[in-house]
Order: sequence, then C-alpha cells, then structure tokens
Amino acid sequence: MRSFRNIFLYECLFALTFWKHCSLSVENELFISASNDFPEDGSDKKTKSLPLLYTNSHQSKANFDWVVIQNTTESLSLSEITNDNVKKLVALLSNFRRGSGLQNLTLTNVSVDWDALTEILQTVWHSSIEYFNINSVTQLSNIKTYDFDYSGTSMKALTVKKVFITDLYFSQDDLYKIFADMNIAALTIAESEMIHMLCPSSDSPFRYLNFFKNDLTDYVFQKCDKLIQLETLILQRNKFESLAKVSFMTSHMKSLKYLDMSSNLLSHDGADARCQWAESLSELDLSSNQLTDVVFECLPVNIKTLNLQNNQIASVPRGVTELKSLAELNLALNRLADLPGCSGFSSLEFLNTEMNLILTPSADFFQSCPRVRELQAGHNPFKCSCELQDFLRLERRSGGKLAGWPAAYLCEYPSALRGTQLKDFHLSELACNTALLLVTALLLTLVLVAVVAFLCIYLDVPWYVRMTWQWTQTKRRAWHSRPEGQETVLQFHAFVSYSERDALWVKNELIPNLEKGEDCVQLCQHERNFIPGKSIVENIITCIEKSYKSIFVLSPNFVQSEWCHYELYFAHHKLFSENSNSLILILLEPIPPYIIPARYHKLKALMAKRTYLEWPKERSKRALFWANLRAAININLPVADGERSGETD
Ligand SMILES: *[C@@H]1O[C@H](CO)[C@@H](O)[C@H](O)[C@H]1NC(C)=O
Ligand SMILES: *[C@@H]1O[C@H](CO)[C@@H](O)[C@H](O)[C@H]1NC(C)=O
Ligand SMILES: *[C@@H]1O[C@H](CO)[C@@H](O)[C@H](O)[C@H]1NC(C)=O
Repeated sequence: MRSFRNIFLYECLFALTFWKHCSLSVENELFISASNDFPEDGSDKKTKSLPLLYTNSHQSKANFDWVVIQNTTESLSLSEITNDNVKKLVALLSNFRRGSGLQNLTLTNVSVDWDALTEILQTVWHSSIEYFNINSVTQLSNIKTYDFDYSGTSMKALTVKKVFITDLYFSQDDLYKIFADMNIAALTIAESEMIHMLCPSSDSPFRYLNFFKNDLTDYVFQKCDKLIQLETLILQRNKFESLAKVSFMTSHMKSLKYLDMSSNLLSHDGADARCQWAESLSELDLSSNQLTDVVFECLPVNIKTLNLQNNQIASVPRGVTELKSLAELNLALNRLADLPGCSGFSSLEFLNTEMNLILTPSADFFQSCPRVRELQAGHNPFKCSCELQDFLRLERRSGGKLAGWPAAYLCEYPSALRGTQLKDFHLSELACNTALLLVTALLLTLVLVAVVAFLCIYLDVPWYVRMTWQWTQTKRRAWHSRPEGQETVLQFHAFVSYSERDALWVKNELIPNLEKGEDCVQLCQHERNFIPGKSIVENIITCIEKSYKSIFVLSPNFVQSEWCHYELYFAHHKLFSENSNSLILILLEPIPPYIIPARYHKLKALMAKRTYLEWPKERSKRALFWANLRAAININLPVADGERSGETD
C-alpha cells in the first residue's frame, strides 16, 4: 500500500491550488485518502490513516438502499447515500413539495459525484425543507459549472460538514459560486479544508455564515459589499493572518454584529497597518491568535464584548484607544504583568485576567474602574508580600466582585508560601507600614525616655546606682587589700572628723548607726578620745594613726572651720595619696565650689573626683547609705586585743 500513497502524494502536488482533498480511485471499490478522518467532535486531531479503505459493502448488503436514521413527519435523517441510490432519493424528495410537513433533512455519509449532489440540492431547494444538513460528503468529483435555480425556496439554513473532494483539476469558482449565491439566511461549510469563498454576485440575504475549521485566508470577502445583511460571521480555525485585512473585510458588512476570528494566525503590525471595522460590530472574538499590545490600535470603536484570550498581550496601552461601549473584556491567558486600568474603557463591567503573569495586582483597580461588576483575576502567580496587602484590602472592599475567590487565588512566591490561598495570607499591619513602624518606634522611645525621666526625677535612680556602684567598688577593694590590712594592728576602725555644728548629726545618726549591731564599728573621735596635753592637730594625727580609715563629714561648716587642720597634713602624708582607700568622705550638705578656699588643693582634688558618699535627705535611701559606709569601713578588728576604749553612749 505504500506505493499507493506515493502515487497519491505525487498527484496531490498538482492539485495543491484546488480544494485540498484528493484521492486516487483504484478500480471501482477501493479509495485511498490522505484526508482527515473527520473526527466527529470537531477536534483538530488529524488521523492521517492511510490507506483508508471503502469497499462499498453496503451496496451488496442493503441492495443499494440508504440507512434510515430518523423518519418523522417533520424530519428525515438518512445515511449511506451513494450514486446508486441517489435517483431514488431525488424521487423521494420530489414528493415533499412546498407546503408539506417535512422541515428538516439530514444526509450522512454521502458519497456521490457533483451532478448527483447538485441534483439533490436543487430538489431540496424546491421542497418544503427548511433546514438541510449534509455530513461527510466523500468522493465529490466531476465538478463543473451548474446553473442553479435559486427561485421559490423554503430553505432557511444549509449546513455542510466534512466535504471531501476527489477531483484533481476543477475550477474552484464553479464550486464556490453555487454556495455564495444561495438566497438563504444561514450557511455553514465546516471542517472541509476550503481555501476560498466568493463574494455573492448580488446583495445577499445571508445573516449567518459559518466557515469553521477551513483553510480560508486574508483574501476572503475583501472588497465584498454584497453581504449587507450579514450579522454573524464565524471564521474560527482558519488561516487568517492580518488583523488589518480582517477589519477591511468587515468594513462593508453594514449589519455585522458578531465576528469570531478565534484560533487563526492573526497578528497586527501597528506601524503601517490602518484598520477599518464595520461600525455595527459589537462582539469580537480574537482569542487564540498571535496578537500583541498593538492590537488595541486596531479594534472596532463600538465593540461591547471583546475576547483576547490566549494571545501575547503584555500590557494594555493607556490612551491609545477609547472603547466607550466595551463592557466585557477577556484577557485571560496572556502575559499581563498587572491589571489594566479602565482609562479607555469607561463602561467596562466584566474583566477576565486569569492565567497571566500578575504578581502584585495594583490596588487602585476598582477606583479606576467604578463600573466593573466582576473581575476574574485568579490563577495568576501571586507574590505574597506587603504590596499584596493592598490588593487584599481591595478584595475585602470590593464586595464579592472578585470571581473565583478564594479558591483560584493562590500564592506562587515566595516558595515557602506556594499554594497558600491569598485569603489565608496575613502580614501584620506593622510589618508592612513604614510610617506606622516609625511612629511606633518613636512612641516607644518617648515612653522609655519618660520612664527614665520619671525614675530619675521621682525615685532618684542615678543616686542609687552611684551608691551601689561605690559599694561594690569598696567591697572589691576590701577583698583585694585584706591580707595587707592584717599586718598592722590598729585600735579603731575609723577616725571621724566633723564640724562642731554637725556634731548633732554625728551623735544622733552616724555613731548610733555604725556602732550598733554585731559588726560594731569602733570610732575614734578627736573629742571623745582626746588625749590631754596634746594640741588639736597632734590629737587628730594620733587618732588618724590609730585608725584604719578616716571619715570626714563634709559640709560648708566643716570646710570653713576644720579642714585647715588636714590640708597641710595631707600635703605631706603619703598615707592619703589620691587613690588611697583609707579616706572616706561623707557629704552632709552640698558644698558650692566657691566656698572652698583656693589654697585647699587637696580638698578641691577630692571634691572633683566625686568619690564622696552623699547623705540622702530621703529616709528611704538611708539604708543603702549606711550599707555603703559600712562596706567602706569594712575592717575586722582583732577583737582579742580588747583595746576597747570603753566608750559607750
Ligand atoms: C418514512 O415512514 C413512512 C411511514 O412510516 C414511510 O412510508 C416512508 O417510506 C418512510 N420514509 C423513508 C425514507 O424510509
Ligand atoms: C430542525 O432543525 C432546526 C435547526 O437545526 C432545529 O432548530 C429544529 O428544532 C429542527 N426541527 C425538527 C422538527 O427537528
Ligand atoms: C458513516 O460511515 C462511517 C464509516 O463507514 C461509519 O463509521 C459511520 O457510522 C457512518 N455514519 C452514519 C451516520 O451512518
């Protein structure tokens, strides 16, 4: 059989310009076809089954009879019409004169030649039949001019599907003319690989033309001004390439309302192609073509419904076209990166942007498109981030205008959130709102400052901190210098020096507090432990030398009356070097710097270092003061020495 195929292909080359099907007749019973097997569902699946074998078996079996599929008063459906039974069929159909009941006739598996087919058509034309369907016309051959009588018909619609022409050489016009000039409202020639159709020779009553799935090109109906009543034109699945040419094709179709150009090869070269559409055109299907953004420069001005699904549109250019009547726009399956605005489409009510590349839809959509009633934006690769929050708010405010919500709206990025419904995606307001974040941080800082200020002002925290610091420092120093302190054995823990005017405080506060309790501190007061016959300074020095520490109760009084005794002593005595820890200063009252005479260098130096303990006015702070003082004194006297001076208060 391979060789048959080769012969067939060779013959086919000669027939390329004609209706594309061709087959080779081998004897009377065997036919080989390279054509589609005409799938009943209308799918494009080419089955190229070669060779396909017909062996007119029905003829012998059914005595040249057709097969009756349906037989009622109104409709008749027959199958297996051949050249052998066609005379009988014509005779039968001749009975159904105009006015009889039969309305619908369907013929399937018609394998007749051109003469027979025209005879059937002519008979039907003068019968009562209104709807005539012919499916699967195989072996159409001997095509030649036929002078068809169109007069006096009841016909409303003729539907021819899957016509298969076996002729290799014929004038195409003979074939097309008979269909083009039909005086009926609706004509369908589908799935027949028809490459052309003629313009009717006079004004045509066609209101509906359907050439679904053929091989028609841009040359069809160019400059054809006879289709003035045509309302619906379906050219789905053909080979149209130029959108501009299609627009010019429609420009003479004054009544055209609906045009289906889907699944062609349409593109538009915006630069040098002008467009001119029928003004009446209100519904246009341009889906599944190769159109890009420039398609918006070539659209019918009065369009109401526009289908641009499955093209290559990346964005809807603003301000290019004004389609005032556009109510429904389908942009699904394109390459849109964002929702288009409605700047040119003031009447838009339905918008479909499913299956595009929209990561973050702009949130001002419903503001710019106030008349939109439904937005289908699902199945986009949404990026779930802060920017999307605005869109989610938009969804909440839109009042259910978002079709397919929530199931069709899933996060695609980041990958951790992939598959999460947008409905379940939440980021806190704070994480996304920079201004809010700043305000919050500012507020927190203010609160912190306020708390710190409050603590400082009302609770004197810095004082506590300073005292605690001093206390720990003294403890640390005492720890490190302990071994040294045990070498010399001294009589007193501390020597206390103070002004007479502060004596009351020393007697009522200092001494009772230091000398009470278990770790009783023994103090040397130059009054109390006064050795007669010695000068004040000598007594003081004796006292200092018998004690581990020297406590000075500083006040303006003290500076003015007592310090003079010490300034000279300190100047010569290494014992009280700057870093000495045997010196304890208690600041009973603040001493303004001007009170300190210029010659008191030592005192000035000590005051500048601020290493004194301040006597707190508040009772609550005093415990810490005493603890600090005790820590500073912190020396264990060798009790065994028993050199207790016997002084008690
Ligand atoms: C249809 O049915 C009628 C009556 O039942 C019969 O006379 C007629 O021959 C049938 N037509 C065909 C085409 O079989
Ligand atoms: C005849 O065919 C037309 C169109 O296909 C259909 O609308 C109508 O219902 C049919 N009539 C009968 C009686 O089958
Ligand atoms: C038409 O012919 C094909 C192939 O012989 C057959 O499969 C199909 O059933 C026929 N159709 C009808 C309606 O008889």
